[in-house]
Amino acid sequence: MSELVREIARRAKEAREVISEYIHVTPLEESATFSKMSNARVYLKYENLQKTGAFKARGALYKVYKIKDEYKGIVAASAGNHAQGVAYAAKIFGLKAVIVMPETASISKIEATKSYGAEVVLAGRVFDETLQVAKRIAQEKGYYLVHAFDDPDVMAGQGTIALELLEQAGDFDSVVVPIGGGGLISGIASVLSTEKPEVRVYGVEPAAAPKTLISLREGKPVRVEPKPTIADGLVVKMLGHYTFQVIKETVSGVYTVEEDEIAHAIYLLLERGKVLAEGAGAASLAAIIHGKAPVRGDTTISIVSGGNIDLTHIYRIILRGLARAGRLARITGFVPDAPGQLRNILDIIAKHRGNVIGIYHDRTSENLPAWNAMVTITFEAPGREAINAILQELREKGYEFWVSL
Ligand SMILES: Cc1ncc(COP(=O)(O)O)c(C=O)c1O
Repeated sequence: MSELVREIARRAKEAREVISEYIHVTPLEESATFSKMSNARVYLKYENLQKTGAFKARGALYKVYKIKDEYKGIVAASAGNHAQGVAYAAKIFGLKAVIVMPETASISKIEATKSYGAEVVLAGRVFDETLQVAKRIAQEKGYYLVHAFDDPDVMAGQGTIALELLEQAGDFDSVVVPIGGGGLISGIASVLSTEKPEVRVYGVEPAAAPKTLISLREGKPVRVEPKPTIADGLVVKMLGHYTFQVIKETVSGVYTVEEDEIAHAIYLLLERGKVLAEGAGAASLAAIIHGKAPVRGDTTISIVSGGNIDLTHIYRIILRGLARAGRLARITGFVPDAPGQLRNILDIIAKHRGNVIGIYHDRTSENLPAWNAMVTITFEAPGREAINAILQELREKGYEFWVSL
């Protein structure tokens, strides 16, 4: 085992002493539903219930504690949970905080960060520009710039999760952890490979930002341009120097998940678990239930790392989730523009217990077939079979409809 891994594990113990006053020991619970879906015994570690809504407060608190006597203030560049973690830590230890966020940051994240008393500066359209501004402010003011992941103290702070797991869980075989810059997984894997080396630690990242998979293949941190993803907390172009080393040494496998799989996991956590997770927070469960991480037969732990999701995203995810489960459908078709036609269609939907919640009826667009209207109907349904039966009966009665959601 490398000195780095040993040192992070050692510091994690110190971090726990320092930060325990300011954070929650988050619950660890077994899920019968997800266990059944995955042929494994699945536990969820609810870091979405952590102070600030994500695990990030852990690493930030420990780092700020360590530098608090040398600096009057701290700076961070972040559009997400790191911003809130650092702002919270600064408030706890009485330091000033300047958080630089990209100009595109959501109002809810800006407001949440300000609520901890931090000054928010909006700068840069891409993250690299934001970071440059943060570096300049740190230099001008003599403040300390807290890195989001590539710092052994930050990694050790995140590793306190693993110390909790060792106390909360009985025996377990594996832990599945989302990877952004790799601070979270590095902390957890360092502690477990020191304290319980038989446990396998698996990493998960979006297929849209596969920097870890590619870096491990190439044997060095590689810069990978990310595509947009619902798991915005996992969008990092390149792993850090330290995080790459630790991941290479301690992580048993890294797997990617698709956008649909992440959205499905968010939906299931909400519907079945009554748990609100953000995309990054649901990624590890997505890998488990969609058979990406090799945990079949394991007692495994999914780290639900955060719950700070924009409400506009949830709305779309719920709609998609309901559609996927056959509980909501939107169908579109051409209908002869004559009295009684729409009623026939609505009767068929009602017969199969569809509950119409929206109708869009277009009879004026130029590209419609002659004497036809285009109709889009959204309805709640008891399941996929009912939707298929509705489409089938519509077809039998001469109406050609297709699913449009
Ligand atoms: C909710 C959530 N999960 C996971 C991660 C990834 O953490 P790391 O960058 O330490 O790999 C982040 C990072 O911001 C996050 O906000």
